[in-house]
Order: sequence, then structure tokens, then C-alpha cells
Amino acid sequence: MTDTNFTPRVFSGIKPSGGLQLGNYLGAIKRFVGMQGQMETVYCVVDMHAITVWQDPAELANATREVAAGYLAAGLDPSKSILFNQSQVAAHAELGWIFNCVARVGWMNRMTQFKDKAGSNVEKQSLGLYAYPALMAADILLYHATHVPVGEDQKQHVELTRDIAKKFNHDYKVDFFPKTTPVIDGPATRVMNLRDGTKKMSKSGESDMERINMTDDADKIAKKFKKAKTDPEPLPETVDGLADRPEARNLVEIYASLNDATPADVINEYAGAQWGRFKPALADLAVAKLAPISTEMARYMDDPAEIDRILGDGAGRARAIAEPILRKTYDIVGMLRS
Ligand code: TYM
Repeated sequence: MTDTNFTPRVFSGIKPSGGLQLGNYLGAIKRFVGMQGQMETVYCVVDMHAITVWQDPAELANATREVAAGYLAAGLDPSKSILFNQSQVAAHAELGWIFNCVARVGWMNRMTQFKDKAGSNVEKQSLGLYAYPALMAADILLYHATHVPVGEDQKQHVELTRDIAKKFNHDYKVDFFPKTTPVIDGPATRVMNLRDGTKKMSKSGESDMERINMTDDADKIAKKFKKAKTDPEPLPETVDGLADRPEARNLVEIYASLNDATPADVINEYAGAQWGRFKPALADLAVAKLAPISTEMARYMDDPAEIDRILGDGAGRARAIAEPILRKTYDIVGMLRS
């Protein structure tokens, strides 16, 4: 599936809207850090995507730094990866426009995330929210990225990116943009809400008890796991026994991911265990793994100038890759520059 005509390069991004939650960490950041050193890695704080829904300006700037702090605290090394915020590299918006002209309205109408977010209120949404996946395709293809690690909820957008690349290459008779592979692996690509195992954990749930925020302290983390919804049965004897038990499966998958193990490993250890045994063990593990990250995030947030310096340096390195690709795109499309 990987496009071998292009040098392997990873790109991924996180929106600075609200704070980071455990799903962002396990489904994205932890895996991004794991890909460092394997191939070139480019990671972004996608502030232009964030404003598809109105953001308070001061909060947006703060959330942008907080996502950057989350990446850094979780082990992203700016000497190994490029880390920057999207709006500092104008080429994203420029290629985004070209892709608005490649993508079809029918494709956008099939995007489940837009439908979920817009609900019955489509007419009141920003045009940006509708065009969002075309900007995401620009983020990825501006770097000729071959691999995009994401959680399951972003799979459809990465598939759309492939469709946009294919149509561009076909319409202009070139082989210029690669076929991007979505990388969706490991036990926690869809971390669920702690109060309802059929809903995804997200930054914007009704109750704070639904999610673990990356800024939660040890007491809060422990309390949220202990109060997490479960069913009355003990843990099953095999992983197959988790099939129709969304809450149980979610907690086992979270444990597995935090411990760099598989759900089968966790079930081997806790087969038949009651929740009174498993939940405190999960809470202890989560505190042991997450508390050092939240402490480190707070340390970065005390030094915003250092975060800004890292993002600025990353933006310069990102531009060095992106601008030649944008120029070549303009040439292909026939944009005159004099
Ligand atoms: P965003 O900001 O909603 O989420 C960032 C990343 O976290 C993953 N994620 C989850 N993974 C597992 N379980 C969950 N509950 C969970 N919640 C979030 C997401 O799948 C994502 O990988 N459109 C993207 C941002 C984006 C992007 C890009 C990503 C913009 N341009 C280019 C990749 C490449 C988004 O809104 O992610």
C-alpha cells in the first residue's frame, strides 16, 4: 500500500481546540514519538483547522502552546522531528485552495466528521468546517508525506487525501503527489468515553469525568478511572470475551497501550479479575505513566518563549520542504509567476 516512488516521510497534526485528552496521547502523540528516528517526521499544531469553529484568540494561542508542550513532554525531540504550528507556514493555505478546486462537493458530503459536528445545523457552520478535509490533504501532501499516523476517527480524511492526490495527478497528467498510507495501529486507536463506551473520548464532552485530560493531576486520574462505567461481569478469560463489552474493552485497551502491551497480555494477567482489582491497577499505571508527562508539560508552559522558539525554528525547517513543493504545484497548474 505504501507508495515506494517517494522518500518515506511522516506527517501528522493535532488541533489546538480545548486541551489534550488521553485519546490524543495514546492514539496520536505516543505513536508519533515512536516513529521518530525510523523516518523523517513532521508534526504540526493545526491552528488553522482549530478556527473552523470560533476560538477565543488568547485561548487559541494558549492551546497552541499547550499542544506543543504535550508533544515535547511526551518525548518529541525537536532535533529529530520538525515541530511547528500550521499558520506559520503559509503554503498550507495556498495548497489548501488548490485542493478546494480539486475535491468534489460530493466527496465532502460523505465526510462523517462534518456530519457529526454539524448535526442538523449545517447552514450555520463555517465554510471552513466543510472544506476542512481539503486543508488536511494540503497539510499532508505539501510534504509529500507517505505515512500519516492517526486515530481511527481520521481514517476517512486520510482516504480523501489519497483521492485528492489521485485526481490531481490524473487531471494534470503527472505523478507528483504520493499515495499516502494512514497508519492506524496498536491497541488504542479509538479510546472511548469513560462514562459511555460507545462514544469516542473527546475534548468536548459534557462532563469532565468522561475523559482524562493530559493536565489532570494524580488524584483526578485515579478518581476518574475508579468511577469509570463498567458492566457487572468480571474480566473475561480471553480477549474474545471483550467483544460485546465496550466499557470493559476500552479499559483493557487503555491499560495495554499505557503498558506497551497487547489486550491479550492484559487479559492473561487479569483473567477473571473483578473491577475492584483491575481499576485501581489501571489507575496506578495511568498515574505512573501520565503524571511525569503532565509535570513536564507544566514546566514547558512556564517558559512560553522557549515553546515559541521551537515552533518558529520548526516552521523554518517545514517551509524549506513545503515551498519547493508548492512552487512546483503552481508550475503544474499553470500559475504565472513573474
Ligand atoms: P484531532 O486534533 O481531533 O486529534 C488529534 C489526533 O488524536 C487522535 N484522537 C484519538 N485517537 C484515539 N482515540 C480517541 N478518542 C482520539 N481522539 C483524538 C486523532 O485521530 C488524531 O490523530 N483533523 C485532525 C488534525 C489534522 C491532521 C492533519 C491529522 C489536521 N491536519 C494532517 C493528520 C494529518 C484532527 O482534528 O485531529
